[in-house]
Amino acid sequence: MANFLGIDLGTSSVKALLVDGGQRPIAHAAEPLVTLHPAPLASEQEPEDWIRAVEAVLARLHAAEPGAMSGVAALGVSGQMHAALLLDRSDRPVRPAMLWNDGRAEAEARELNARSRDLARRLGVSAMPGFTAPKLAWLARHEPAAFARARCLLLTADYVRLRLTGERACSVSDAAGTWLLDQERRNWSAEAVSLAGIDPALLPPLIEGSAVAGKLRPDIAARFGLPAGCVVAGGGGDTAVAGIGVGAVGEGASFVQLGTAAQIFVAGESYRPAPERMVHAFCHALQGRWYGMAALLNGASVLAVTARLLGYPEVGAMLAEAEREFHGPSRLLYLPYLAGERTPHDDPFARGTIVGLGPETDRAEIVLAALEGVAFALADGLAALAAAGVPVSAPGLIGGGARSRLWARLIASILDLPLKRYVEGEFGPAFGAARLARLALGRDSSDALLGEPPVAEIVVPERALAAAYAPRLEAFRRVYGALQPEYRAMAIQVPDRPTPPSAPAAAPWPRS
Ligand code: XUL
Repeated sequence: MANFLGIDLGTSSVKALLVDGGQRPIAHAAEPLVTLHPAPLASEQEPEDWIRAVEAVLARLHAAEPGAMSGVAALGVSGQMHAALLLDRSDRPVRPAMLWNDGRAEAEARELNARSRDLARRLGVSAMPGFTAPKLAWLARHEPAAFARARCLLLTADYVRLRLTGERACSVSDAAGTWLLDQERRNWSAEAVSLAGIDPALLPPLIEGSAVAGKLRPDIAARFGLPAGCVVAGGGGDTAVAGIGVGAVGEGASFVQLGTAAQIFVAGESYRPAPERMVHAFCHALQGRWYGMAALLNGASVLAVTARLLGYPEVGAMLAEAEREFHGPSRLLYLPYLAGERTPHDDPFARGTIVGLGPETDRAEIVLAALEGVAFALADGLAALAAAGVPVSAPGLIGGGARSRLWARLIASILDLPLKRYVEGEFGPAFGAARLARLALGRDSSDALLGEPPVAEIVVPERALAAAYAPRLEAFRRVYGALQPEYRAMAIQVPDRPTPPSAPAAAPWPRS
């Protein structure tokens, strides 16, 4: 029976997962990526670094499982969404890619919204600084020479697919995050393209996630022991493809993802926009499906930064200590907005803040406050979804952060939702990409293939914890409200100086 390969180009690493015909994992590999912060609010990566990391994971899988690699019938790629990546006439990037958490295009997003009151309902959400279109407008304004060299726009997974196949295309679920897609028609919006000042010739053809995008280039197939003619699927944006991995495709199926960013995702069989709540309504990676999402810019990244600042050698040791010392709510409030926030604040200027430090504070309490802070931000996202008429019940919990049982307990109690922990929670998008690859062969129905992975445990809300955290959540909201104008003022005062690159957290986390 054939095998399938999924590659996920995340923000902190590239992950690849090889699965067999029974959808069982055979092997996986990961390779870290470095994010560059050349200016305040900037977040960039070098596309060549993505290719280096993809080649590294393929080489490792080839070395570990040469037989299984030679039996791969199709592969799929997912990637971090909302990138602004422009290629020149030779398909070379005109500059590094601006990422989803780059906050520089605030003025451009504001201008687009001011000029397009009705468009947000068709494009799924109001323009926000991290989306592709405002960032392209920023590039046109601030780096006109680079912008003028652009001949094609691609997103992260598209660029990897181009390098694997030689074909240029944009997957529909990734185009959904550009603020250039008519979500209901699943096609580029001529109106948005013109409003953003983008030459329509820059836009590649669109492709659904489970369609055949091309064949693997023979030299690449030979180099990594993959079969000649291996099919490459359309794939898609990491959030949507994570939904494919966890089987969240039917009406109301949901998950909470704790990757570098964090999301609450609810699948739907129709398109239901609610831009006034900063809820994103985007095309799913499966044709005829959409999803509603509270998109948070800070998830497990908050733990990686906290570990670095507090001098922990790795996140796993830090969490083990926090778990040992946990007796109830911390006395601190940790606003987790290291990269600003999207749902519900649309605030690129917000920054991480710890309130309430005292002489008795120790590092375990700061770590607990970080876990609580992301849970409070998720509660704000859940409230936005509820206000937008998107109900959430019993979501799955996926992403690197799903490994922490303490975090799952806090989130379940603060959100007042039971959470499903899966046996293999961390491979959502890579597993989803492998599933899309298999669908691209056209032999399986999505109903048969896209089941939910085995559930290891359901973490239920704890009444005492929920009661203890309710007033803390209210305080968290008040503190953000009080600080919001200060964040903006600080962003304007900060001198424009380069900041060091952020490396991902080093070691893997233990399961607790
Ligand atoms: C979703 C989002 C993130 C990125 C990075 O809107 O911004 O999920 O795709 O993972």
